[in-house]
Amino acid sequence: MDEQALASCARSLVSPGKGILAADESLGTIKKRFEHVNVASSQESRRAYREVLFTTRGIEAFIGGVILFDETIRQATEAGVPFPKVLGEKGILPGIKVDEGTKELAGFPGEKVTEGLDGLRERLVEYRDLGARFAKWRAVITIGSGIPTRVGLLENAHALARYAALCQDADLVPIVEPEVLMDGEHDLARCEEVTAEMLRHVFFELAEQRVLLEGILLKPNMVISGKACSRQASVERVAEATVRTLRRAVPAAVPGIVFLSGGQTPVQATEHLNAMNLLGPHPWELSFSYGRALQDPVLDAWRGEARNVTKAQKVFHHRAKCNSAARSGKYTRKMEEAA
Ligand code: 13P
Repeated sequence: MDEQALASCARSLVSPGKGILAADESLGTIKKRFEHVNVASSQESRRAYREVLFTTRGIEAFIGGVILFDETIRQATEAGVPFPKVLGEKGILPGIKVDEGTKELAGFPGEKVTEGLDGLRERLVEYRDLGARFAKWRAVITIGSGIPTRVGLLENAHALARYAALCQDADLVPIVEPEVLMDGEHDLARCEEVTAEMLRHVFFELAEQRVLLEGILLKPNMVISGKACSRQASVERVAEATVRTLRRAVPAAVPGIVFLSGGQTPVQATEHLNAMNLLGPHPWELSFSYGRALQDPVLDAWRGEARNVTKAQKVFHHRAKCNSAARSGKYTRKMEEAA
């Protein structure tokens, strides 16, 4: 393990003005996203769509890394240039989703555990050879009646730390993603309580398993009201609660925190990030690793049609630029009008 290389890779992913594009949708997830815009999911439509994203001119000013799916890291542009090379030539680091999705946690109804540790050491070596410089593993925590349980949180935190240690052994920066879902009627306070408890377990496990904190990025949810909660907290309250929770739980040795968007609208996700950065300075970089909040408007513009590519790329460039501005609290609603 090269500690300095890991730390420098983690820092470069969140260098000023930059964040991460999560384009690592599994086959099931991308099929759902495509269905919304009436595109059939095939190897070729997925490839064509990812080419739209990765070849957008100028995104390297806003995007420091892209998370790929197993299929995608092996794909290429229509002209035959492998995607990791396309990204690398722009100075964007390729990353890879390495978890294998969630399963029911036996004995704990309603709770999930993430699979993918078996054989992970060997897979990481292969991904590094394919060009990956960082990885992602997502744990999913659901808030509901009587859940999450302590065991549900502990099992997920333990798996995240096992994954993180294996990544660093393979000289890949692990993105550690404990996602507390927005689904449910819970309020902001309940989300704060669960997020805080999960982060405590995660950083305990990371320390126990000797993970180098300088060589990871944390990818958490924001502290936000449940989607079905009748009282939706304001942008300012979400920002305050999220920053408070992170300050209490995340050591300053961690170089960056890159949020997931989790079902927020694209504009909400940008506003929240902006409001949090206005509360700085913080001990870590506060940035984004958005999937839907960067891609939903792009998919809507593209709709599987070659003639829409220019428009879709313009939309992607715009969203990436807005989130980049939010990295330093410089995003304004005016930027949306200018689009
Ligand atoms: P969303 O931003 O759509 O939540 O996706 C981010 C991600 O990578 C989830 O694992």
